[in-house]
Amino acid sequence: MAARVKALVAGNWKMNGVRASKKEVTALARKLAGKTKPACDVLICPPATLVTTLKEVAKGRKIAIGGQDCHAKQSGAHTGDISAEMLKDAGAAYVIVGHSERRADHGETDKIVRAKAEAAYRAGLVAIICVGETEDERDAGQTLKVIRTQLKGSLPDGATAKTTVVAYEPVWAIGTGRTPTSDDVAKVHAAIRKALEKRFGAEGTKMRILYGGSVKPSNASELMAVPNVNGALVGGASLKADDFWGIISAYA
Ligand code: PGA
Repeated sequence: MAARVKALVAGNWKMNGVRASKKEVTALARKLAGKTKPACDVLICPPATLVTTLKEVAKGRKIAIGGQDCHAKQSGAHTGDISAEMLKDAGAAYVIVGHSERRADHGETDKIVRAKAEAAYRAGLVAIICVGETEDERDAGQTLKVIRTQLKGSLPDGATAKTTVVAYEPVWAIGTGRTPTSDDVAKVHAAIRKALEKRFGAEGTKMRILYGGSVKPSNASELMAVPNVNGALVGGASLKADDFWGIISAYA
């Protein structure tokens, strides 16, 4: 029996957004301060250049700020990289690790993702650890096998419900407008829950499992109602306050 966990709706801005984009966060904060109080936590993960700016805008509001990636080390000769400690210092409370775009564009393996999640814990950040199958893997009937392998390899042994969020993002659903059926989402989330409980016991029962991949206002209510879906990781539809609010409202 799944525990009652507070949902998390997280926006992943990817490589989008400049300082002027803070108006979207201001608009979202205004909506969150209105009459409708959604029963979920709200997070925005902008590019690292905007973490401090958005943290200032979100100050005192019910919006947390996070990073999209971090290096496993705390500091050192790693040109262009950003550590979990730096994100924390800039105002982040969360960091996404192992997003499929990082796995594909930067050759990140489960081992690297796990080291990054450990770095997040070290810095006091919540790690949002992403897993998901490609279309070929899905067509070959390998979805659950791929997900179990990624979970095993990417989640540190010390993961707890407080420090860790799992995001299931089928690679073929990201940015494509295509989504799995509710039944398919239910099957994968149930398998993830089972794997988490087996490995982490009671912590695994409470760990949040987000669904990500083409979540939008029109499909959010249906997807968020699926058992073991404890929120969403949203790309494109998190960039505009109105769209993001439409998704958050699934929890109103
Ligand atoms: P999307 O992206 O909502 O634009 O499909 C989701 C993600 O990659 O986190």
